[in-house]
Amino acid sequence: MPCFNRQNLCIERGEGAVLYDTDGKPYIDFVAGIAVNCLGYNHPKHVKAITEQASKLIHISNIYYNEPQAKLAEALIKNSIFDRVFFSNSGAEANECAVKLIRKYFYGRSKKRFKIVTATGSFHGRTMATLTLTGQPKYSDPYAPLLPDVEYVPFNDNAVLKAAIDENTAAVIMETIQGENGVIVADGAYLIDAYALCKAKGALFVLDEVQTGVGRTGKLFSFEHFGIQPDIVTLAKGLGGGVPIGATLARGTIATAFTAGDHGSTFGGNPLACASAGVVIDLLTNTDLLAEIERKGEYFKNRLRAFKKYKWVKDVRGLGLMLGIELDPKLKGTEIVGKLAGKGFLVNCAGNNTLRFIPPYIITEKQIDMLYDALEDIFSKTNL
Ligand SMILES: Cc1ncc(COP(=O)(O)O)c(C=O)c1O
Repeated sequence: MPCFNRQNLCIERGEGAVLYDTDGKPYIDFVAGIAVNCLGYNHPKHVKAITEQASKLIHISNIYYNEPQAKLAEALIKNSIFDRVFFSNSGAEANECAVKLIRKYFYGRSKKRFKIVTATGSFHGRTMATLTLTGQPKYSDPYAPLLPDVEYVPFNDNAVLKAAIDENTAAVIMETIQGENGVIVADGAYLIDAYALCKAKGALFVLDEVQTGVGRTGKLFSFEHFGIQPDIVTLAKGLGGGVPIGATLARGTIATAFTAGDHGSTFGGNPLACASAGVVIDLLTNTDLLAEIERKGEYFKNRLRAFKKYKWVKDVRGLGLMLGIELDPKLKGTEIVGKLAGKGFLVNCAGNNTLRFIPPYIITEKQIDMLYDALEDIFSKTNL
């Protein structure tokens, strides 16, 4: 079905941070399958783990145990503030699970709470519940009626958020960086306030780390930058390094709100996906990969900041290897994306006419420099 606006490229294979199309033309990849392929392509440890697991067992029902699932759950819990995890297959499913977990948590408690507060400009997925939470009417308008009791508040506005959280609020859900909306970073004070307001009113604080999680910002979870402790966090995208997997993590009594039969997934937590994600988490927690992401992210951001000399570069922002350049609306980001592809660089354009850079974590400073030179060449020949 014609759901996607595609670039006229057919990608065949990849090596490191470089992709090759079916004509053999190389492209340095700053998209990473939209923040998914964090280990790049043909990573030896990753491919070995997937191949070995495929030869042993690809799928088994959740009516049995499997070792890769148990090991991944253990690694996620050991390296986080969370107590339990539910595995699914995508970001939308991880968020859908969070919505159900919120409902189940308040179900049967004396005070029923249904309202979920979400931010405008957010992106949480394409299922009916997550589409409702996504604060962008262009995605949800054709699908009304949506989930009831969802309230939208402008992102980064403490006063409106404060007014929205009351004794009927079950949860607040937000991203620390709105990736799809153009890499809009939450103010630290806003997040800290949101967290405190939830605590004060007995509402749950949920972070969608589908795009920001699993090391993307230089920390395993991006909330670690802000000194807050969400009740529920969702992951997907980079978690499997390319094999589909989603995860919903929760703390304390929230983590035990589901009992057997309350939620489920045929494929969620299958051994192949968990073996794949196991390598990603292992590299992030047992090597200096996180520090490397932070260092390369700083280097990259500093280089991009130099483009502020051009009057059409309105802002350079982001954290770690999740960066964006917001362009003046008169200079179409999609045209720059096309020109970069012609020069052998894959970049995409997110909301607000923002060039978004979310490369594999193994991108090198030399590859960052090459992108800089290509963009400098394009900008220096631009007349606006
Ligand atoms: C923050 C966020 N949440 C959820 C999703 C949905 O993930 P998926 O496409 O895997 O369902 C996305 C996808 O872009 C996202 O960026």
